[in-house]
Amino acid sequence: MRVLLIGSGGREHALAWAMAKSDRLEKLFVAPGNGGTALVAENIALDVADHDAVAAFCQRELIDLVVVGPEGPLVAGIADDLRAAGLAVFGPSKAAAQLEGSKAFTKALCDEMGIPTARYARFDALDPALAYLREQGAPIVIKADGLAAGKGVTVAGTIEAAEAALRECFDGAFGNAGAEVVIEECLMGEEASLFAVCDGEHITLLPPAQDHKRAYDGDEGPNTGGMGAYAPAPVMTDALVERALREIIEPAIRGMAARGTPFSGVLFAGLMMTAEGPKLIEFNTRFGDPECQVLMMLLESDLLDILEGAATGRLAPVTPRWRDGVALTVVLAAKGYPGAYEKGTAIAGADAANSDGVQVFHAGTAREGAALKATGGRVLNVTAVGSDVAEAQARAYAAVDAIDWPEGFCRRDIGWRAVSSQ
Ligand code: AMP
Ligand code: GLY
Repeated sequence: MRVLLIGSGGREHALAWAMAKSDRLEKLFVAPGNGGTALVAENIALDVADHDAVAAFCQRELIDLVVVGPEGPLVAGIADDLRAAGLAVFGPSKAAAQLEGSKAFTKALCDEMGIPTARYARFDALDPALAYLREQGAPIVIKADGLAAGKGVTVAGTIEAAEAALRECFDGAFGNAGAEVVIEECLMGEEASLFAVCDGEHITLLPPAQDHKRAYDGDEGPNTGGMGAYAPAPVMTDALVERALREIIEPAIRGMAARGTPFSGVLFAGLMMTAEGPKLIEFNTRFGDPECQVLMMLLESDLLDILEGAATGRLAPVTPRWRDGVALTVVLAAKGYPGAYEKGTAIAGADAANSDGVQVFHAGTAREGAALKATGGRVLNVTAVGSDVAEAQARAYAAVDAIDWPEGFCRRDIGWRAVSSQ
């Protein structure tokens, strides 16, 4: 097969790495890719916002499958436009990507299908929002409605903090994404990420994963895109996975099909394990980053079979095999992330840290001749497998310590919940 993968993060390096192992892969392009994908595929500069140009490239290069990594192009309708040009695409339509693009859309679907989620109300003006907030009290969660690059959510411990977040949204801190605001009940419990590959009708669940969203050890500091992850996450027992499938994933897929906008691609449910069972925090319509990196380390089956099955409505016969044990990834980020950070600093030893069962996925890197440079906030994802989470953790941190990048930092406690429950 000839494949085009869209994206440039650690998720895309992991997807490219897994596809490159397939006997079925003839040629893989990544647009734009990074310093890691350059080793397993051909990076190309394509204007992903220009859907006609992407379609023309695919036709010229006889592309059999397009895999869309990030949410931005999906919400912009790239899957619709490429399908209209006759291409097979892994990723949801613009209508189905609203599950990630609009929190209000998802809340309405939850109401319609009886999906357990936080109580909420939605506002497009400050005064009624403030009145509702004072009525509800704290803790409470304030969310900008649209895509805000992971920064539009405030879990407020006090009314004052919640008010400040509301004012910030309506003052335009998130642009159009903050023109409508959702105020939500604060769910209590441990979080997990559950991924369901779908072809519009059939569902294949991947092992549950857990991410670490806060920047610093002990889950302190600002929210980030994710500082590390591991899978499987023991907090999601088989019984909880089954419940989440029945009460959250299946009704969402049924509801989208009933609306005439079936969901294909990967549905990512961010879940809270509350005292009453799993509740939905949010859906995303793509693989998680860095959750994807650990899932790809565990996957023994051919990733292309799964992605192609979802893209072409033939997922039913595909049942992936997973290796035993645990995979864990540690994100190396530029000092200062998720705030301002320096770019262009040199990294040494990243390739040499790879070994059997250890894989360094690149996120924000570029190669300049033999040198590797940091180009983003999250830069490397040092990923390892082990027979249990403690072993995977020890191997990942040994590899972290073999990489020389003075301008980088990482959390030292990725996997702590699972290690302490071992
Ligand atoms: P998001 O950007 O929507 O992924 O949200 C970021 C983080 O905010 C989530 O991973 C949760 O930790 C937290 N969060 C979002 N909504 C809620 C909620 N209703 N209750 C508790 N925590 C939440
Ligand atoms: N790691 C969480 C996300 O990709 O949104």
